[in-house]
Amino acid sequence: MIPDPFEGAQPVLGDRSLFPDVADVYLGWAAIAPPSLLVRQQVEAFMASYARGGLQGFGQWLPQRARFKERAAALIGAEPIDLALCQSTTQGIIALARSIDWRAGDRVVVFDGEFPANVTPWQRVAADFDLELVSVPLAPFARSHEEGLTTLEAALAPGVRMVAVSAVQFQSGLRMPVPAIAERVHRAGGELFVDAIQALGVGPVDVARGTERAIDYLATGGHKWLGGLEGSGFVYIAPERVEALRPSMAGWLSHEGALDFLLEGSGHLRYDRSVRRQADFLEPGAQSQIGFAALEAGLVPPTVLGPEAIHAHVQVLHDAYEPLFVERGYRSLRATEPAARSAILSFEPPPDHDVVTLQKTLREAGIVAAIPDGMLRLAPHWCNSLDEVPRIERALR
Ligand SMILES: Cc1ncc(COP(=O)(O)O)c(C=O)c1O
Repeated sequence: MIPDPFEGAQPVLGDRSLFPDVADVYLGWAAIAPPSLLVRQQVEAFMASYARGGLQGFGQWLPQRARFKERAAALIGAEPIDLALCQSTTQGIIALARSIDWRAGDRVVVFDGEFPANVTPWQRVAADFDLELVSVPLAPFARSHEEGLTTLEAALAPGVRMVAVSAVQFQSGLRMPVPAIAERVHRAGGELFVDAIQALGVGPVDVARGTERAIDYLATGGHKWLGGLEGSGFVYIAPERVEALRPSMAGWLSHEGALDFLLEGSGHLRYDRSVRRQADFLEPGAQSQIGFAALEAGLVPPTVLGPEAIHAHVQVLHDAYEPLFVERGYRSLRATEPAARSAILSFEPPPDHDVVTLQKTLREAGIVAAIPDGMLRLAPHWCNSLDEVPRIERALR
């Protein structure tokens, strides 16, 4: 019997007891999740099975993948069959980008200011398949969603094949208007890819919202807000898009009946089996099974507490953090429109502050924060609480 991390687990907003070894005020969730006790217990159970049984351990944990997919799919409003396991956001994006049936001259729209994981793979396919790559600035979206959408529409006017956007921007924390973007992209005849790693687990993500299927493709790693470890993530493919994908990334496990030759006796070793026409053809070989055991346990808090409640919780924390920094001359990048806010709260430090020294000083005072491209990024999650605010204030002094 493999343990179910959901059984009996009751995470509570603002309660850190699942993280007994985190000594600091941990505001680094947009970078790396510290593993909770639920994750650690699941990893230990996994190790015990493999240590005892090797191959038998593999067999025991195989059904856990299916259970993981059900729970991951529920978080994004999808069906489990439309998910493929992958190693990271990047691996997912590369796999998808290289599976599209490109035609030379297709236009691909990316955004200037995105995390590079959602640009490099599109640059590479643009070079390899002779595509036109267009970069749209994020600044108009930061001023208002409406202004951003107008800028995007201009870029879509000549026609578009693919738009690749992050649901939440890694540096500023700007939440992108994904349903409105989807509507415009589809009207222009294109498809929408969403990098969900900075949104999923800490706020709502719904692949079908506004429907005509809002999101065509999505990828995420599990090691941030979803609470898993590095090396495990997943991809979503809208069912009506699978058929048109090229099997360029297929491997031995992508075939129909791929395991038959290992399980069913002789006569099954063949190389002419067709590649599955469902999302999991993007699971080409052995995966980080331990990573998915961990990630399923990571899904417990977001699932039990719910993305809306976690989003509201972190907004209360942001409300408390923001004035502490603003009164010391930091410029807040927090969106004025509530719909454009996320779990990331970033500040431009005052001109006389060296951001690297700032991060180090905060670290020495027990505050963990990140500094993407010169901004100070605070990223609290469901387990952070208002009790930590005085410590941040003392550190700033
Ligand atoms: C928006 C975004 N996409 C992707 C990544 C990373 O991707 P991967 O999971 O491939 O490391 C990050 C941060 O590390 C990010 O902020």
